[in-house]
Amino acid sequence: MLRRLHKDQPDSFAFTPDNLAWAEGQITKYPEGRQASAIIPLLWRAQEQEGWLTRPAIEYVSDMLGMAYIRGLEVASFYFMFQLQPVGSVAHIQVCGTTSCMICGAEDLMKVCKEKIAAKPHEISADGKFSWEEVECLGSCSNAPMAQIGKDYYEDLTTERMGEIIDELSAGKVPTPGPQNGRYASEPLSGLTSLTEYDSGKTQYNASAQLATDIGDTVKRIDGTEVPLLTPWQGKGKSAGTAAKKSPAKKPAVKAEAPKATKAKPATTAQKPAKATQAPKPAAPTDAVAQAAGTKPKVMKAPRKSGADDLKMIKGVGPKLEGLLNSMGFFHFDQVAQWGPEEVSWVDQNLEGFKGRVSRDNWVPQATALAAGEETEFSKRATKSGIYKK
Ligand code: FES
Repeated sequence: MLRRLHKDQPDSFAFTPDNLAWAEGQITKYPEGRQASAIIPLLWRAQEQEGWLTRPAIEYVSDMLGMAYIRGLEVASFYFMFQLQPVGSVAHIQVCGTTSCMICGAEDLMKVCKEKIAAKPHEISADGKFSWEEVECLGSCSNAPMAQIGKDYYEDLTTERMGEIIDELSAGKVPTPGPQNGRYASEPLSGLTSLTEYDSGKTQYNASAQLATDIGDTVKRIDGTEVPLLTPWQGKGKSAGTAAKKSPAKKPAVKAEAPKATKAKPATTAQKPAKATQAPKPAAPTDAVAQAAGTKPKVMKAPRKSGADDLKMIKGVGPKLEGLLNSMGFFHFDQVAQWGPEEVSWVDQNLEGFKGRVSRDNWVPQATALAAGEETEFSKRATKSGIYKK
């Protein structure tokens, strides 16, 4: 099926403060310069918060990680764990329709979904609570047929049990995940024939069903306050947010933030403190920038004594792009505000890795407003959400 952005999109997205802290904790898992690797957990958390993945959410997460929007969209549109359209408010049911499950009755399970939810996949039920779709193998073939609901697997399903699960979810209950026919895990239905000494009953349910039951967030929206924010790499029991806030940057902020300038180093006092985790890669020196059509705007060797402006307040400029701009000699809103069509054309063509961003995101009017001390819709959102807070 085609996976593309839904035609109706909200105006904006922002993580809740707790989810933002959680996301910042996730980013610390990756080495400097590799923050883009956090894209999947961050998109997943955005989906957990909203129920589905909106375009503003993909752009917000891409901005956080200094990635081009198209890179974020590539990830979001590739994996069917990401829902690119609104889903039921209680649960989106993904029925596996691949060989093992198909042989064992997946089509009958989908009939139940058609009857109880909606005639077509991705349609939301009349009461708004459910949606469903057929997906490819989810890797639980020995417990076919199965479906993923929320975060968990419901296995060894029958049509009766599928109907009951939907009814239970509708009534506000969360049925226990795992095998639904009395099996503990994926042992033979007739009982173990080998390894009979093996004690599979150490916990009430098998490991994954037990964990799911203990955490209990299968189909919940996650705003960051409902479940412990476990970050094992930072010490169990601490929230990622707390740990992330307390953890000092591994490298001095000045070093992390200072891209190599053309010739003179930007004044140290003018540097903004920055997260080491979002350090931009040093960009090519200005002299090495390719000649291109348009007119090169006036550049500065260093920001003014008052310090560089936070260019990330311009929509579409993330930490990486801000570093690149600084390395090219652009530090202030009023510099960008002065660009005419020729200058825009030159900068658009010389933003290595971000070509075309100036015109695509309308930087000049934004910079003009920001230089005049006004706020833009984006800067308001960015300030409110704290996405680029220092
Ligand atoms: S075929 Fe359904 S989980 Fe593999």
